[in-house]
Amino acid sequence: MTGNRTFTMIKPDAVEKGHIGAILEKITAAGFKIVAMKYTQLSKRDAGEFYAIHKERPFFGELVEFMTRGPIVAAILEKDNAVEDFRALIGATNPAEAAEGTIRRLFATDIAENAVHGSDSDENANIEGAFHFSGREIF
Ligand code: RTP
Ligand code: MG
Repeated sequence: MTGNRTFTMIKPDAVEKGHIGAILEKITAAGFKIVAMKYTQLSKRDAGEFYAIHKERPFFGELVEFMTRGPIVAAILEKDNAVEDFRALIGATNPAEAAEGTIRRLFATDIAENAVHGSDSDENANIEGAFHFSGREIF
């Protein structure tokens, strides 16, 4: 049984380049319904906690700097098979390896500044959604 919700962030690089509208258009055109959304900025502590799984990786410091340098859009999305379908829509972590037409292929800069986040499991989708939204902000 797969879940029907995932969590995404439009990362600071894509916000800086003015791609919020175009990315939301791709997301809704692909059949995802937005059930929660906010424009916010992560603190260092938020980003460190959000990406805690990567804290031993060599790019962790750079990742926290990047994710906190400007505002992001956070959202919970709903669709059948949401986690897997959204990962397919955004494409590979490295935009050079992302399939034609994917959000990262279209809007990302490089493997570090790759425009969007997508949850990698139903369990993490729930944890990440709850990190950003209270029950009354989810519709
Ligand atoms: P995300 O969690 O943001 O959806 O990305 P992902 O699953 O495709 O990739 P993940 O392995 O979870 O990496 C998290 C984020 O860390 C940055 N990164 N930088 N410099 C590097 O080699 C490197 N590798 C990863 C990216 O922002 C990546 O999305
Ligand atoms: Mg990941």
